[in-house]
Amino acid sequence: MATSNSILYAGAVPKFIDIGKDGNIDLDLCEDEIKKDKSRCLRLIKAIYAVAFSGNILNQKKLQYLRETYDILILEDCCHAIGATEKAIKAGSCANSDVSIFSFHPIKNITTGEGGAITTNSEEIYRKILALRSHGVYRDKTMKPWEYEMRDLGFNYRISDIQCALGLSQLKKLDRFVERRREIAHHYDELFKNSILTPLYSDNTGSSYHIYVVKLDFTKLKINKAQFFSKLREKGVGVQLHYIPINKQPYYRSIGYGSENTPVMDKYYEECFSLPIFPTLSDKEQRYVVNSIFELVSDA
Ligand SMILES: Cc1ncc(COP(=O)(O)O)c(C=O)c1O
Repeated sequence: MATSNSILYAGAVPKFIDIGKDGNIDLDLCEDEIKKDKSRCLRLIKAIYAVAFSGNILNQKKLQYLRETYDILILEDCCHAIGATEKAIKAGSCANSDVSIFSFHPIKNITTGEGGAITTNSEEIYRKILALRSHGVYRDKTMKPWEYEMRDLGFNYRISDIQCALGLSQLKKLDRFVERRREIAHHYDELFKNSILTPLYSDNTGSSYHIYVVKLDFTKLKINKAQFFSKLREKGVGVQLHYIPINKQPYYRSIGYGSENTPVMDKYYEECFSLPIFPTLSDKEQRYVVNSIFELVSDA
């Protein structure tokens, strides 16, 4: 929600694009939209805002191509992807984007309690964000010692020093946390091999595995997805669904969304769910999660 809400806050209009098989926005479909937009006399599409869903970094080659070919801004939502890599590129390094954003909410790979960060390689964007964070106020060396100028309508979006201290200590642990998440994910991959459950993607060595998603065709079972969730939760397994499609939320419906053509996302919503993954999940607990699922699907 936060990603598309921020587009609305900025006074812009989000256009939702279907996802690909790995859960990330389909960048080929984005290109089709940009091409259509280019053929109009007034270009409406200004930017692509793409989430690196579940920790799976966006296709960097395609982002680079889109940015160079269409002169379009690229924003990467790396809230799930902190610690992720694609070849030599680290999530959030803005190798092929203008900005990347991070959340440090307690459920994220690292936390500052609440808050987040934005990274950019652009001096101009950096200066603008610094000002907007603090009431739109600018200071520079050409001004008199007491002077400052409010040039934009900014906000109080300052993170506290105490939170930053926590963030810095968390950052030191990031590689260890992500390594353990990858281990757990690869263990799930192994356990689901040759079963009716299919990981959203497997053998992904670059993902930071904020979320581990599996697909299951519930039409083949005697129980439906809601019963499956309830039964697993009764067994103490914290199964989740990331996420309900944003365009189907009442607020978005009330402003005209909800009927976009998104067959891959619709299927994702029918079949997918997320399993517990966090660094302190023990092997025993993980086996319990998987055995509980196997018991359910073999009974049903
Ligand atoms: C992909 C993604 N983007 C943005 C956010 C928003 O983060 P916050 O709640 O810290 O603003 C989240 C948080 O859950 C998220 O998962």
